[in-house]
Amino acid sequence: MENQKKRIFSGIQPSGELTLGSYMGAIKSWVNLQDQYECVYCIVDMHAITVRQVPADLRRRALEQLAQYIACGLDPEKNIMFIQSHVPQHAELSWVLSCYTQFGELSRMTQFKQKSQQHADNITAGLFTYPVLMAADILLYQTDLVPVGADQKQHVEICRDIAQRFNGVYSETFTLPEPFIPKMGARVMSLASPENKMSKSDPGGCVYLLEKPEDILRKFKKAVTDSEAAVRFDPAGKPGVSNLMQIYAAATGKSLEDIEAEFDGQGYGIFKETVGEAVVELLRPFREETQRLLADKAYLEGVYRQGAERASRIAGRTLSKVYKKVGFLPR
Ligand code: TYM
Repeated sequence: MENQKKRIFSGIQPSGELTLGSYMGAIKSWVNLQDQYECVYCIVDMHAITVRQVPADLRRRALEQLAQYIACGLDPEKNIMFIQSHVPQHAELSWVLSCYTQFGELSRMTQFKQKSQQHADNITAGLFTYPVLMAADILLYQTDLVPVGADQKQHVEICRDIAQRFNGVYSETFTLPEPFIPKMGARVMSLASPENKMSKSDPGGCVYLLEKPEDILRKFKKAVTDSEAAVRFDPAGKPGVSNLMQIYAAATGKSLEDIEAEFDGQGYGIFKETVGEAVVELLRPFREETQRLLADKAYLEGVYRQGAERASRIAGRTLSKVYKKVGFLPR
């Protein structure tokens, strides 16, 4: 039975604290899909060093992120959960795939263009070839589905292009993955500047999964809206209000129409407070469970060690196939 399930791969960088955006765009789908698929969920620390990290923080966040995956509802018995740098096949396949990826196609990646502006003093080759490592992550596991937020769609598409090209040259080697992007919460925007994506590097506009309730409520009270005082869904005309509506919808399961009706004739004050409280209640159990798990380091180590072993077995099979196809002499 187990082997007939289709496979999922996805990952998050431990380059900052997990946010409401990464939860609604990715982790929530992971939890929902974990029974139907064989799932591999990674902490992509090798991706994180494409911009400079403080080593001790990176180490701490990798472990905290694992605790948060579990606290959000991912079952470590059911899913393979591991840390990218523990499975060397990721770097190995990435090198091979980089020889089947065009400079031109990497130059068109939106995230590269944005990040190279943000880190203009440190535009490394790693930042540029980042999508190749992400393609290796996905293709190593013969992945069918990649649940991500909308901002990662382009990277899944280039992964498909690389896979297709390789398959074309050497015959069927890689499964072609599809992105899975949730209907609600695929692009959570900043509370402070709703024309920008909520990002871990913007503390004012960002809600962190482990943040204290009073801080979360304060951020929602201060959330930027508009002067119309009508709770109506219109992402272009009313980005702040529409973002809050989507967050509320993703947190409660309510439809956008129901939300418009709920706040009909009411001011933004009560609306923002209600959304803030819904988010506090959504995150409360995650925060408590994360703290409980972090007190048991031995358990978390067990999870990631076993995860790396299981991941490495699958990844090793794909990598051997690839090495044979490109013509490397077996050791
Ligand atoms: P990362 O670490 O930036 O984000 C992790 C996941 O969270 C989603 N996300 C959001 N979704 C909605 N609204 C937001 N504001 C928001 N912010 C983040 C992202 O879309 C992503 O799904 N390259 C990836 C990590 C990665 C990966 C992979 C993903 C490496 N290898 C293989 C899938 C498969 C990244 O930087 O995500």
